[in-house]
Amino acid sequence: MKRLRALSSLALMAAALLANGQCMRVHYDDGWTEQIDVSRVDSITIYKNEQHLAPTIMLHNGLRMPAFGIGTYSLHDTTCFNSVYTALKNGYRLIDTAYMYGNEEEVGRAVRQAVADGICRREDVTVITKIYPGSQYANPGQAIQERIDKLNIDYVDIMLLHHPGDNDVKAYKAMEKQVEAGKIHSLGVSCFYIDELTRFLPQVSIKPVLVQNEIHPYYQDAEVVDFIHRQGIVVQAWYPLGGRGYQKELLADPVLKRIAEAHGKSVVQVILRWHYQRRVVAIPGSSNPAHIAENIDIFDFVLTDGEMADIAALNRNEKHDWY
Ligand SMILES: NC(=O)c1ccc[n+]([C@@H]2O[C@H](COP(=O)([O-])OP(=O)(O)OC[C@H]3O[C@@H](n4cnc5c(N)ncnc54)[C@H](OP(=O)(O)O)[C@@H]3O)[C@@H](O)[C@H]2O)c1
Repeated sequence: MKRLRALSSLALMAAALLANGQCMRVHYDDGWTEQIDVSRVDSITIYKNEQHLAPTIMLHNGLRMPAFGIGTYSLHDTTCFNSVYTALKNGYRLIDTAYMYGNEEEVGRAVRQAVADGICRREDVTVITKIYPGSQYANPGQAIQERIDKLNIDYVDIMLLHHPGDNDVKAYKAMEKQVEAGKIHSLGVSCFYIDELTRFLPQVSIKPVLVQNEIHPYYQDAEVVDFIHRQGIVVQAWYPLGGRGYQKELLADPVLKRIAEAHGKSVVQVILRWHYQRRVVAIPGSSNPAHIAENIDIFDFVLTDGEMADIAALNRNEKHDWY
């Protein structure tokens, strides 16, 4: 019961017993929702249902989004299709792509195939794509329509500006029009930090539902995460595992290894669980089916406050990309 009481102090807003009497859906006042297995009152764990789905977050516009997903940067053709399809089979319901990744067609095809095969319903999947600065921000109407057409999944769940840049407000306003037309459900931005958000937010009508930024144990950006959360906006982590080419050191980190051993989990699972417990939505990229299954298997253990503090102490402000 101790943990249940701890949850109350975390601004627990409402809890309702679900039909089977064992699971409780907990809503926090910042929109975070999770399911908890109350049959194990001595060590309450996050409920993992048969489909292995991640808990969902209520966005400020009332729509829901899974609290965990897969990224598709650098995945193409069959590799991309297989990764997304495998992820959906493993219970993922959140997929991140972008114009810049050149793989929206494959992502859309994998979603359509999974729906046709009865793996998921379209309405349960959240697909994120992005438009890019330069000619796309200068002529946003065409760029937005191309994203919708390439994905070919009826509507885009969330469209982001990939970076701040010339004409970003104009491009965002063009995306707002497509929200009004029902072709996009929600909007967001990427690589926006405190200065960029402070300039940008007062100029737009539809508040972004999420900001996607670089975040990993060596670049935690706590001040920015806190700033975004205080706007009622979800934070999503790109490079949640440090990014390609940076993993050797991170995955061998002795602190993370010690915590992983204590829970019988992998270092990657500890990192992804740390993101989740910080209320940061991780979207690790992978084309390895075993990794895809491993990465979503993080909802059956809880890092202690001490372990969260130990991981917080690993921060080095070490950014692994320039933007
Ligand atoms: N908005 C932006 O500007 C921006 C920038 C960069 C990225 N992103 C998004 O963020 C996503 C994540 O970033 P990322 O994919 O570049 O980097 P990442 O998720 O930090 O790392 C991906 C790497 O981790 C490996 N990996 C995944 N699961 C693993 C596991 N269980 N054990 C060991 N290795 C594992 C992958 O290899 P395997 O394939 O072998 O599993 C891959 O090499 C991207 O895919 C993209 O959607 C957005």
